Amino acid sequence: MKEENKMADKTVFEQKESQVRSYCRKYPVVFDKALGSELYDVDSNRYIDFLAVAGSMNYGHNNPEIKKAVLDYLSDDRIINALDMYTCAKAEFIDTLDSLILAPRGLDYKIMCCGPTGTNAIEAAIKLARKNTKRTEIIAFGGAFHGMTLGALSLTTDKVSREGANVPLTNVTHVPFDGTEGLDSIKYLRWVLEDDHSGTDKPAAIILETIQAEGGINVASAEWLREVRKICDEQGIVMIVDDIQVGNGRSGDFFSFERAGIVPDIVVLSKSISGFGMPMAIILIKPELDIFRPAEHNGTFRGNQLSFVGGAAGIRYFVQHDIGNEVKRKARIIEDFLRNEILPLDSRLTFRGIGFIWGIDFNKIAPALAMECVHTAFDNGLICEVAGRNDGVLKIMPALTISDDILKEGLEIIKETISQVIKNNTK
Ligand SMILES: Cc1ncc(COP(=O)(O)O)c(C=O)c1O
Repeated sequence: MKEENKMADKTVFEQKESQVRSYCRKYPVVFDKALGSELYDVDSNRYIDFLAVAGSMNYGHNNPEIKKAVLDYLSDDRIINALDMYTCAKAEFIDTLDSLILAPRGLDYKIMCCGPTGTNAIEAAIKLARKNTKRTEIIAFGGAFHGMTLGALSLTTDKVSREGANVPLTNVTHVPFDGTEGLDSIKYLRWVLEDDHSGTDKPAAIILETIQAEGGINVASAEWLREVRKICDEQGIVMIVDDIQVGNGRSGDFFSFERAGIVPDIVVLSKSISGFGMPMAIILIKPELDIFRPAEHNGTFRGNQLSFVGGAAGIRYFVQHDIGNEVKRKARIIEDFLRNEILPLDSRLTFRGIGFIWGIDFNKIAPALAMECVHTAFDNGLICEVAGRNDGVLKIMPALTISDDILKEGLEIIKETISQVIKNNTK
């Protein structure tokens, strides 16, 4: 067997890796290299990346400016792992986040470094809200995705994820999200909170994604977000915004809630916050809520210094390259394409999104077609994903740094793919 073919062999995974693996089933090759918005498998086949590792590669794979900062740090024998001890890398990260992102927006937050996954930071956020309010209940929304550990999973709504728990997922009331067909979300929320016969105890927190990503690219309106903020203020409820997937510039602003002009009490960030795809998660806390005692939410890997270095470089990159405005400009390319090129393919298709996260909804044709598109798109050289009810929404989520040319090339592949899939299913 030639060396290249041995590398392409998937037997080791299929025989030895747990069957819980999932993305590899949609993109069944062995990947090797990645640059910007292009991935290459071991046989040098090229794939355009419309997934961005689920939103953790917002600045593109191996972004040269961020990589340089990481390599410089690494080549100099600087400290790599340090629990939550004071280090130069962490000081630089905190200072960069504060001076380039928080202060210009008038945001005054304490920064808490969590264990390195989004779900760990969600656990920290809900624990902190409960500790502050001395209440147990949390309100989350239908379509929410907040992670896989038990506290976060209790907030997450999709059936398959919840069935993995095998213990009761409790102390959460789910309320319809903005735009839920036939239901007035704010009216419902007010009823839950204000009717003394609603049967729901007053919650510690309301947690939400301003754009539900895994839930099917459901974009909350600015008015809805402001109304939730108002309700939290009226009732002394902690407002938590999970910006793990749609923060870090994905919406066209650094924080996804900026378009509503609101300030959450706690903001959760992970995925692209490390700039370079390394594990990292933090929560931003209004100073008066910052009441965990030392070590009350501990974790060995809260001090990944390469993540701090990449994170600081990523924030500098975001500001210096005016990524927010670039996203807004390129978002129009996507939106125009979806309206002018995709909708005409079938009158039952709809689309929605904002910034650099969009979804094409197949539910009115047949939800399974969305997954068929993922497989066909992969055969056509593009990586994309499904989301939402029945996995019926084809999700488009490129790196924010994608060039216009590769973006358009990828959109053409989406068009070709959907045409093929619809044609195959109407024979
Ligand atoms: C909005 C949101 N919250 C939480 C999580 C969980 O993050 P992690 O997978 O790093 O635990 C995700 C992951 O996709 C997410 O999209």
